[in-house]
Amino acid sequence: MNPTAANSLSSSHHSPNDVARPSVRLKINGSVFEAIPEELLLELLNRTGTKIPQVCYHPQLGSIQTCDTCLVEANGTLVRACATRIESGMEVATNSAGAATAQRAAFDRILPQLGFGRALPFFELHRCFAHLRP
Ligand code: FES
Repeated sequence: MNPTAANSLSSSHHSPNDVARPSVRLKINGSVFEAIPEELLLELLNRTGTKIPQVCYHPQLGSIQTCDTCLVEANGTLVRACATRIESGMEVATNSAGAATAQRAAFDRILPQLGFGRALPFFELHRCFAHLRP
């Protein structure tokens, strides 16, 4: 075995926490972020403080995918942020016209079932469900 390679493998200079984690870069609303490959897009959005509705998602339950309030555009296509894994170079828009329209339509579908009707403006609804975030 190459002694240099053996030294680097047995080096005690690094703790397990020093191991470089692989990361990928992607854009969210025009800003560049580093993320863990295969991380759920919704988890990254929450970690970065990006506001996004998520009525049926809870990290301990996983992606139920029943409400569609988390729809965003990824590379120009509408996707559920709670069910989309991050890929390098992805371009995500949470606040585009397409994403906002899709999120609003999702609330229009589910609110009558919750007894809210359509009386509340969208920004009020967003506030109503903000407390559901982890
Ligand atoms: S949070 Fe409900 S479908 Fe994604």
